[in-house]
Amino acid sequence: MELKGTSAIVTGGASGLGEATARTLANRGAHVIVADLNAEAGEALAKEIGGTFVSCDVTNTDQVIAAVDAAAAAAPLFSVVNCAGVGWATRTIGKDGEYASAHDLDLYRRVIEINLVGTFNVCRLAATKMSANTPDEDGCRGAIVNTASVAAEDGQIGQVAYSSSKGGVVGLTLPLARDLSAIGVRANCILPGLIDTPIYGSGEASEEFKARLGAGVLFPKRLGRSEEFATLAVELLSNSYINAESIRIDAGIRMQPK
Ligand SMILES: NC(=O)c1ccc[n+]([C@@H]2O[C@H](COP(=O)([O-])OP(=O)(O)OC[C@H]3O[C@@H](n4cnc5c(N)ncnc54)[C@H](O)[C@@H]3O)[C@@H](O)[C@H]2O)c1
Repeated sequence: MELKGTSAIVTGGASGLGEATARTLANRGAHVIVADLNAEAGEALAKEIGGTFVSCDVTNTDQVIAAVDAAAAAAPLFSVVNCAGVGWATRTIGKDGEYASAHDLDLYRRVIEINLVGTFNVCRLAATKMSANTPDEDGCRGAIVNTASVAAEDGQIGQVAYSSSKGGVVGLTLPLARDLSAIGVRANCILPGLIDTPIYGSGEASEEFKARLGAGVLFPKRLGRSEEFATLAVELLSNSYINAESIRIDAGIRMQPK
């Protein structure tokens, strides 16, 4: 699938995996819509790569429609990469046997709302717009890449909310691809391992934490680079024969309970 002369939406595009993907897509000739909550970083990146920033909470339908319309106004919308997401770690129960110290249910709902419902919200609205595209010679009208996590398969202690949300993203991949095959839109999913992005915070404590994490990686023994995620995402978009796939990019790590 050709990316040059098309538009692409990258949610969470202002930072980390989304930022690297936005840069790679722009290098491939796509007009990129950086759809994020972070206006300062998002505007700066969009300016640098000749794209457009749209202030967008992926859980807000009107804002997602605004991002989709902005993309289609720039060029036919053929690509979506969903990177918007949040991490959260809390154990299911507290230590004191009190109901009040069980996992906060609103926090659980919030993680599901952003990571899972938000991802699906973007898919359903972007694919609706893609359905009006003139197809390429393969009948292709677009492609979607969603971002889950290895935590969908090897969730650690404290990751019930996060792993539930990412397991949902993996789970929707096949039925989404089946639904969208009717309009010639492919859907794939990436499960990143430990990739060095601002999601781990910054400063000395965060560098120590990342060094400990890196020691558990099989090979190469380091955290991944966001560009390694981005080139995979762009391959999943542009290679028309990859569909309904969920693929780990994790240098062989299998996360332990903690
Ligand atoms: N970095 C990793 O090691 C890793 C591993 C597995 C999965 N992931 C997943 O990859 C995705 C990107 O992570 P990252 O490491 O680049 O994180 P990041 O924190 O660097 O970037 C996430 C971006 O998403 C945006 N965002 C958050 N909530 C949003 C919302 N409701 N609407 C729109 N934008 C929103 C943030 O503003 C931020 O710019 C996340 O879904 C994360 O769960 C990351």
